[in-house]
Amino acid sequence: MKKLIDYIQKAYTEHWAIGQFNFSTFEQVKGIVAAAQKLKSPIILGTSEGESKFVGLQEAIAMRDVLRKKTGLPIFLNLDHGKSPEYLQQAIEAGYDMIHFDGSKLSLEENMRISKEVVAFAKKKNVVVEGEVGRFGTDASRLYTEKFEIKEENLTKPTEVQQYLAVAKVNLLAVSVGTFHGIDVTGVSPHIRLERLQEINSAGNIPLVLHGGSGTPEEDIKAAIERGIAKININTETRLAFTNTLKKTLAANPSEITPYKYLGDAVVAVQAVIEQNITMFGSANRV
Ligand code: G3H
Ligand code: ZN
Repeated sequence: MKKLIDYIQKAYTEHWAIGQFNFSTFEQVKGIVAAAQKLKSPIILGTSEGESKFVGLQEAIAMRDVLRKKTGLPIFLNLDHGKSPEYLQQAIEAGYDMIHFDGSKLSLEENMRISKEVVAFAKKKNVVVEGEVGRFGTDASRLYTEKFEIKEENLTKPTEVQQYLAVAKVNLLAVSVGTFHGIDVTGVSPHIRLERLQEINSAGNIPLVLHGGSGTPEEDIKAAIERGIAKININTETRLAFTNTLKKTLAANPSEITPYKYLGDAVVAVQAVIEQNITMFGSANRV
């Protein structure tokens, strides 16, 4: 099986993107992997610190390994939005394929200092490292009750990317270019700042990561991939598909108490969302 870094490099040079799909239940993983299997796509399973504490680092590894073996697919695990270097180290020791150090709330100097530390211990274990420069609107994926406005000062600055990469030798970089975690309640996310993204790509010349993928217009996704985005993170769309379908199934079958009988529809709904995204990202038939 090709290594994760090879897929990321290929996505970057061939202008497609590998999807990271977050999960906190095995049923979501079943839907994600079923979509990847159908479309013959490499995938990254993502767990935030909170999601991984709920699932368990070792349990996430066990899911990855059994599904890799069963499907033969390149399935990778990322510890997403890690704020604590100690916890990132635990994920590495557990066997995660990649980690994301999210220092975006820190000063650039502090972000660089800790990122350099994180890269040092990750490289010893050949673990891929995602850094982050630029501030994101929120820490949680959720539906917005009001129109979400992007603050220009939060967008990633190309000069800061160059400063950061001179010190922190990460493999890929998460950037803030107009997306945000969650989906605007109107369902229409603000457009990505494509010019800024191009400037960042020219400045960094490194595979870039788009967070807050849910709800982003398709034309923006395609244009962003043309401008250096090689990995796209999706969580809210999957959470909505799973949760809303489960609610509907339970409401329609109030006397049903058998989980394997009422969870199947939610798995199918997750698979459909993941298939749409894999197709949009161009990662189908890339195994
Ligand atoms: O890291 C995870 C993603 O950035 C989640 O964003 O919930 O808007 O898809 P999303
Ligand atoms: Zn994110």
